[in-house]
Amino acid sequence: HHTMTSRAYIGSIDQGTTSSRFIVFNEKMEIVVQHQIEHKQMTPKPGWLEHDPQEIFENVCVCIVEAIKKLRVLDASFKTLAGVGITNQRETTVAWDRDTKNVLCNAIVWSDVRTSAIVERTIREHNDDARFAAAICGLPVSTYFSAMKMKWMLENVDDVRHAATKGTLCFGTIDAWLIWKLTGEKVFATDVTNASRTMLMNLKTLSWDEGLCKEFGIPMKALPDIRSSSEHYGTISTQEDLLATVLGRERPVPICGCIGDQQGALVGNMCFQAGEAKNTYGTGCFLLANVGPTVPRASGNGLLTTVGYQLGRNAPCMYALEGSIAGAGSCVQWMRDRLQLFKQYNEFDGLARSVLDTGGVTFVPAFSGLLAPHWDPEARGTILGMTLQTSKAHVVRAALEAIALQVADVVHAVESDSSIAFTVLKVDGGLVRSSLLMELQSNYLGIPVQIPSMLETTALGAAVCAGLAAQVWRSTDELVAYRNCHSSSQTVAPLLSKDERNAKRREWKRAIAKAKGWAKL
Ligand code: G3P
Repeated sequence: HHTMTSRAYIGSIDQGTTSSRFIVFNEKMEIVVQHQIEHKQMTPKPGWLEHDPQEIFENVCVCIVEAIKKLRVLDASFKTLAGVGITNQRETTVAWDRDTKNVLCNAIVWSDVRTSAIVERTIREHNDDARFAAAICGLPVSTYFSAMKMKWMLENVDDVRHAATKGTLCFGTIDAWLIWKLTGEKVFATDVTNASRTMLMNLKTLSWDEGLCKEFGIPMKALPDIRSSSEHYGTISTQEDLLATVLGRERPVPICGCIGDQQGALVGNMCFQAGEAKNTYGTGCFLLANVGPTVPRASGNGLLTTVGYQLGRNAPCMYALEGSIAGAGSCVQWMRDRLQLFKQYNEFDGLARSVLDTGGVTFVPAFSGLLAPHWDPEARGTILGMTLQTSKAHVVRAALEAIALQVADVVHAVESDSSIAFTVLKVDGGLVRSSLLMELQSNYLGIPVQIPSMLETTALGAAVCAGLAAQVWRSTDELVAYRNCHSSSQTVAPLLSKDERNAKRREWKRAIAKAKGWAKL
């Protein structure tokens, strides 16, 4: 059969909320091979969500091995990868012991709301100002960020506390965990984008903030080194037998890119100019807008200030405004697995299209509270307006409407907070395969939605970080020029009138008000 060769291959580890993947790109930024494995979602209590860090690491290794096997079939001359980049679900927190090498408890996932009591207490102690630290770290106090999860572990897990006392505790986001494991438990490092999600990093100095670490009781010794998103982190250990056999022992493979997954999509979508933005529809929805190399003033509209990327040790750090939405793909998955409204993902679009509207149903998918722009951990999922006529098709359609309406809210927040005026929304992520969702999105925004032909922009972002450090590519300009010549996209234009759009958004506002505060005792 067909064989192919390439000048260089770059590997991308995409460790997401529901699955891990390894994707190999060639120097034309095309996907050559990939492998994907889902991992367990542990929900020991309502609102809690845990992952097993060891399972995630092993899945990543198997993905690498399987993808490389496929690559060897396609390209017999394949020797090794030029470099590997890591992109990951952000905020999810792992604790391990640097001496015993043991994981000390399950990872607490970003959407887990167990820390809501700690959050409430902290906000109360600061004159009810949830944004008291935003001038330093860009974030409001929320269950979402790692610092609260670390604090919870220190207060509730004996092994974590003991390791802290001994001085052997390591706290890391998933990127730091994978770098530690893949380098044979040698390198303890994270990148600026992931560090910016902990609440512990100073956005201006790009280093851990002593005051905030003290404030939240996090020992600075337990935190990894902060590096740029594109530099040499270490080499993949050949101790790991599994990997050594497929990657070869002669030339060690460098890990030379690391970036949070939403920032990865910003890079993969090539939003390198201030004012450029993308929205990714994954487990959640995350809109990031590049705002350039100076830290903007803290948002007045419920957005986060975060690091967009820093492509090299001496490169400027580009900042971003972010609107984070917790419930998107997770809601579709819930309808499939828990309610069993349909069996496969390719069915929900047709089901939702089988009715002309939601029949008056509004669905607020606040399963784990609401993030931007509301920041209410006590909001809960709500389906309003049902009658005896309501069918599952109405409910599924209402869920798709809700995803689009949430995104419309954060787009407007970005416009109010910055000088950016959206004329088009660039999108990516698995859910953009739903053509109804894209139509609804365009309708509720009143602007076109632009869908790239290559949807794996998150993984591409990590490959770009690694490929720049490994000198497969020279500059972002080269990448943008190449992309502009060689890739295509599809555009969906709005059809709804302004009045209809406004009526929809008013109804949505009323529904949000009902979902808020529901879990409050
Ligand atoms: O902040 C959480 C985000 O990084 C998760 O992304 O794609 O794994 O849902 P995803």
